[in-house]
Amino acid sequence: MQFNKAEFAAAYGSFPQIPACSRMEIAFAGRSNVGKSTLINKIFNRKNLARVSAVPGKTATINFFRCGDVARFADLPGYGYAKVSDSERRRWSGLIEGYFHQDRDIRLVLSLLDIRHAPSADDLTMLDFLIDSELPFAVVLTKTDKLTNNQLRARLEEIRTEIPCGDQVTLFPVSSMNGRGIEELRKTIESVVESE
Ligand code: GTP
Ligand code: MG
Repeated sequence: MQFNKAEFAAAYGSFPQIPACSRMEIAFAGRSNVGKSTLINKIFNRKNLARVSAVPGKTATINFFRCGDVARFADLPGYGYAKVSDSERRRWSGLIEGYFHQDRDIRLVLSLLDIRHAPSADDLTMLDFLIDSELPFAVVLTKTDKLTNNQLRARLEEIRTEIPCGDQVTLFPVSSMNGRGIEELRKTIESVVESE
């Protein structure tokens, strides 16, 4: 897979607009500010493929990217951002739920958690939903550069007790700042895409 050949495909602000799924999809999910867009840029070696901002709640649409002919990648809008209006929050959750409930060929959901924090209620809802829907998923632990190696080891053990089915879930500790774990993530994505 040529990760540096990715390109932006389309953005949708409401799920009925999303065209039927013609390719397999890999989705990035997680709360606002966890680092989804930054991770996408890192994986695909681009500065501005997915828009990143220090202001949480930046990605308010589902943004699709193409890489090669087989797969599409979806940057889902971050959930759980406190400072948005109720109507905006409903729009976001409608968008995310609508996406997952459509008849799509979702081959992998990368569910992002900030390694420093216990999962929020919204994170747990997302993980329970992925398990109940039997969607293939893995948990990506972001911002590992903010911890020392000892802290990192401790959090890796704790997180298994904090998430549902923690002993069975694949964990990818990553940093979009120093590149930790990015190659492992690329290999996993590649194996999913090339299983076709
Ligand atoms: P929404 O679009 O609001 O859902 O957020 P998002 O999940 O796309 O987060 P985004 O990629 O915009 O990153 C949020 C902030 O976290 C930015 O200031 C990033 O620079 C920072 N960030 C992302 N990844 C890392 C990382 O691995 N390490 C550090 N130190 N900061 C990171
Ligand atoms: Mg984003």
